[in-house]
Parts: sequence; structure tokens; C-alpha cells
Amino acid sequence: MKEKRDLYQDLESILYSKEQLSEAVSELGARITNDFQGKTPVMICILKGATVFFCDLIRQINLPLEIEFMAVSSYGASTKSSGEVRLVKDLDRSIHGRDVIIVEDIVDSGMTLNFLKKSLISRGAVSLRIATLLDKPARRVAPLTVDYSCFEIPDAFVVGYGLDYNEVYRNLPDIGILSPRIYAE
Ligand code: IMP
Ligand code: MG
Repeated sequence: MKEKRDLYQDLESILYSKEQLSEAVSELGARITNDFQGKTPVMICILKGATVFFCDLIRQINLPLEIEFMAVSSYGASTKSSGEVRLVKDLDRSIHGRDVIIVEDIVDSGMTLNFLKKSLISRGAVSLRIATLLDKPARRVAPLTVDYSCFEIPDAFVVGYGLDYNEVYRNLPDIGILSPRIYAE
């Protein structure tokens, strides 16, 4: 018989439950709805980490909006950024003259968003806002203003609600601190 695998056993602790996440995402959706009255923003989901947050967030926004997807790569199988950002999937449509909201899972060093911000401004977006579920300001290397963030977290490696370690744990409904024994192996 196969051994039963419980993802929660790999967590040191749960940082935010699905109820806390849902409440924070609703509040953020209401703020964006209020701030973008009269506009039709383009919301860009940064694959893959932001997908779960993105799908919940857009459904809490009562505005006409468009969605787009972009993928960048910087991490690989590590818990530290390589510092190098590469565009893996680009937008399908032009954002010239548009109000853009970039939706990210977590801002860590800030390198990813710095790269994306420059790239999107150069394409003629009239306004650009950054919405992140989590912000880890202790590890910031690149200067960056985060416009919307649900939670500021300490310097720990977290997984769940879209965030991965080695592509696993994205499907956990809560956010947890990954037990260091997992990435020490
Ligand atoms: P930055 O460029 O260092 O800000 O890195 C941002 C990206 O690193 C995020 O989009 C995540 O994919 C990944 N990342 C940073 N910290 C964590 C974490 O604690 N858990 C999972 N992924 C993380
Ligand atoms: Mg990411």
C-alpha cells in the first residue's frame, strides 16, 4: 500500500487561514473597485504564483476590467532569487493608453516587479499599480512602491494559495511557513 501524503505535515505553521485570506481579498477588491471608478483597468496575473489570488481578487471587483497573463522566471528550485529575471510569456494585447494593475503573489527582493514595471511603462501604460497578496519588506533589494498589499510577512519561506516550493504546494487553500527540513534536504 502507498504511504499517505499530507501536505500540512510539511508546514511549520499556518500563517493565514483560508478565511483570513478570503476576508483580505474581499477588502482589497472593494478598494480597487473604489479607486478605479470610471476606468476599465487591465489586470495582469503573474504566472504561476499569483493565479489563485488573481482568480479570487477579480471576482471581488465590481468594474469592467480585462485580464492578461505574463510569466517571468527567476527562481528555479531554490528559496532564494537568482537575481536574474527572464520574460517567459508576454501579454497577448497592447496596453498602450491603459490603466494597468499588476497582480503578484509576493514581493520579496523586488527584482521581478522592478523588471515588469519598467517593461510595462515603456509600452505606454498611462497608470501602473502593483497589487500583491504578500509583502516581505525585510528582503527588498530593488526600491519599489507597492500600491496594494494584503499582508506584510516576516522573512520566512511560505507556500500555499498559489505559492510553491519546487512547483508543489500551490493547491493548499491556506498559506503556511514551509518547514526548513523540506528545503534543507
Ligand atoms: P522577487 O523578485 O525576489 O521579489 O521575487 C518574487 C518571486 O519570488 C515571487 O513571485 C515568488 O514566485 C517567489 N518567492 C519569493 N518569496 C517566496 C516565498 O516565500 N514562497 C514562495 N515563493 C516566493
Ligand atoms: Mg511568482
